[in-house]
Amino acid sequence: MAPEKKQFILNAFVMQAPGHLNPGLFKYPNDKGRSYNDVKHWMSLAQKLEKAKFHAMFFADVLGGYDVYNGPANLDATIPAASQFPINDPLYSVPAMAAVTESIGFGVTASTTYESPYAMARKFSTVDHLSNGRVAWNIVTSYLDSAARNFGLDTQIEHDKRYEIAHEYLDVTYKLWEGSWRDDAVTNAPKDSYADSRGVRQINHKGEHFNVPGPHICEPSRQRTPFLFQAGTSSAGRKFAATHAEAIFLNGHTAELVRPSVDSIRAQAKEFGRDPQSIKIVAGLLVVVGETDEKAKEKYELLASYGDREGALALFGGWSGYDLGRYGDDEDFRFLDTAPPAVRSMVNHWASSSPQGTKWNKKTIAEHLIIGGNGAKIIGSAKTCADELERWMEVADVDGFNLSYASIPETFDDIIEFLIPELRRRGLFHEDYAVPGGTLRENYLGAKGRSRLDETHPGAKYFWKAGEDVPAYARVEAKVNGSDGANGHDTNGKSKKRRLE
Ligand SMILES: Cc1cc2nc3c(=O)[nH]c(=O)nc-3n(C[C@H](O)[C@H](O)[C@H](O)COP(=O)(O)O)c2cc1C
Repeated sequence: MAPEKKQFILNAFVMQAPGHLNPGLFKYPNDKGRSYNDVKHWMSLAQKLEKAKFHAMFFADVLGGYDVYNGPANLDATIPAASQFPINDPLYSVPAMAAVTESIGFGVTASTTYESPYAMARKFSTVDHLSNGRVAWNIVTSYLDSAARNFGLDTQIEHDKRYEIAHEYLDVTYKLWEGSWRDDAVTNAPKDSYADSRGVRQINHKGEHFNVPGPHICEPSRQRTPFLFQAGTSSAGRKFAATHAEAIFLNGHTAELVRPSVDSIRAQAKEFGRDPQSIKIVAGLLVVVGETDEKAKEKYELLASYGDREGALALFGGWSGYDLGRYGDDEDFRFLDTAPPAVRSMVNHWASSSPQGTKWNKKTIAEHLIIGGNGAKIIGSAKTCADELERWMEVADVDGFNLSYASIPETFDDIIEFLIPELRRRGLFHEDYAVPGGTLRENYLGAKGRSRLDETHPGAKYFWKAGEDVPAYARVEAKVNGSDGANGHDTNGKSKKRRLE
């Protein structure tokens, strides 16, 4: 008997903006990008995706404008193209989408660089409660100088330093989510008490970047720690991912180019004592699917004709930090000594899988990025697209895909009509959620009862289980601090300090 095939994880990769990875496409008559301010637009998309059994909607987010191109601080190409500007905070719409669905998850991007861990923990606990355990946090450290300036800095904190801060940040949030309330503090409260006051404790975190006494202001939600996503590709980013992430989002032009990153993340996770296969890796892709290869190609050409090339160069400026506005229209970046090495290497990567003789100038770069950004594009019939996705799974060793859109919701409508039935015929996509009505973690991992972090995850050392009077990490801190540590109880379990002073 043939071995059972690994089934795909599928997310819809979206943004609460008129344009995400599709600058200018809001002009395409079928596109509903302009409806991004209408919560019903998101509610109906969530229902549609849930009906098709998508695992999650994955919301990208940024905190500043793409103002590098023709810069400094120039939004003249960004604003007309709606290149991820304007953009709303995605977290607020999650409870509305959760109210009209019961199994689909909601991944929300939020940065560790510009908001305190105490506030972040509260926001995610709130939404985890209101969605009945269906929220994920896509942890980013941010990349736009414009965000740094608007949050009161002259420029961004240095790249690796941002990750160093993020490690401590996560430690604070784990203590708040996992260690501040005993599992049964509310469910096993003394008679006439809302919660057992001895089951709620301060965390007294004192670190290099954060001092947070706690306790966590929210009671435990179904997942406690939201499911953790990460999307960073530098070596510091991969180390962070291998340490903390339960799912990782990678972008890549080809399956072959993505594979080394996948191997490196899984190897590091193993080094850190985690089960490498328990980390789900999803690749960002654009799929334009139609009844036949020809029809799909025609559709792509039509969509691309609405794309805004200047808006695409503005996105490139923000992502890379390099301003292509300084170069002439006809210069080929592969051979341009004055171009930054990072740009040359990026362009060489793209050129390696494009037809020979293509000139890689500003126009080609814009066309390359105009729909789907830096992710791979798969265009064709259901058979062509399914073949290619199957190949990606094998060659890149990924677990699934973050599917971006050219036109919202039309790209997802086509995927639902043409691609998903073909994937199901091949046994590559589930017929139903693993745990209908379950948490995001249960449905992502396909395991009923797995709503909490895995025991090998670094956040698990802060678990405060029912019946435990002094959690393990409080004992560790007690040794370090020469006191009874963070839990505020003496060794007999009597409360010494219950309120903040
Ligand atoms: C596929 C992918 C998607 C990302 N999406 C976002 C996003 O929505 N918002 C954001 O601020 N950063 C996003 N990032 C940026 C990273 O999470 C990270 O903060 C940034 O890339 C710098 O880290 P790095 O050099 O390790 O990649 C994304 C990165 C990748 C690779």
